[in-house]
Amino acid sequence: MRLADKVAIVTGGASGMGAATALIFAREGAKVVVADQLAAEGEQVVGRIKDAQGVARFQPLDVTNEKAWEQAVAATLAAYGRIDVLINNAGISGSDPNLLSREVWDKVMTVNATGCFLGMRHVIPEMQKAKRGAVVNISSISGLSGQTFVHMAYNASKAAVWMMTKSAAVQFAKDGIRVNSVHPGLMPPMRTSKLTADPTIRAKMLEAVPMGRDGRVEEVAYASLFLASDEASYVTGTELVVDGGYLAM
Ligand SMILES: NC(=O)c1ccc[n+]([C@@H]2O[C@H](COP(=O)([O-])OP(=O)(O)OC[C@H]3O[C@@H](n4cnc5c(N)ncnc54)[C@H](O)[C@@H]3O)[C@@H](O)[C@H]2O)c1
Repeated sequence: MRLADKVAIVTGGASGMGAATALIFAREGAKVVVADQLAAEGEQVVGRIKDAQGVARFQPLDVTNEKAWEQAVAATLAAYGRIDVLINNAGISGSDPNLLSREVWDKVMTVNATGCFLGMRHVIPEMQKAKRGAVVNISSISGLSGQTFVHMAYNASKAAVWMMTKSAAVQFAKDGIRVNSVHPGLMPPMRTSKLTADPTIRAKMLEAVPMGRDGRVEEVAYASLFLASDEASYVTGTELVVDGGYLAM
């Protein structure tokens, strides 16, 4: 098993790519902390993991809340004794028709960029003590290019995730910690998607994908699995794009 005996926190683990990541990580031997604001959905993911003889627990977490992070780290250590892997996956969409809204800017930057930073701020000290760890930050193709119908806050927040990944990688390599980013392309709509959930807009977006289809949540989870595992022991500070060729066009 590719994550045998590792303890992994997956933020946004109640839905979409986070849920797929939690399920696959558990199947690969990890003890998984499904951390999310959505308790019922998160408990459901934990239930599916346990039904498959895996080990998991749900942790209520708002990634923007320092206290909640302190509690999540403490609860994980109390339950499993260590934290080997952090997947900073929780996020909200920026596909809002009001492209110059200050409110959207503040909210998207706080959840997507600050939330990712806070994950590293609270988990990296534990990894430093253990002298090992792998962090995977979920960015997006939107962190590497602009888009016509996505609020620039989403692009900026995902570019921040991309770049803070590189900062953390160079700053904490000496502590045995690897930090990488994954950049999904056109995936199933997020719970918070507006414009990008519209079938007409999605059809237009698909025209820009050389593979001609959107991605499956598992296809992103497998990229995180590689980066979280010891197979990636010499990989840090880099980005893995999972986009059906979108950015290559
Ligand atoms: N769906 C896409 O097209 C796409 C493409 C590229 C990147 N991404 C990124 O992938 C990640 C996962 O997205 P998804 O498609 O699975 O979306 P999703 O909406 O299905 O899942 C996001 C999860 O994050 C959780 N979340 C949101 N705000 C939170 C907060 N403050 N604290 C804790 N949890 C919070 C939600 O409750 C939800 O469970 C996000 O970071 C997203 O930006 C998505």
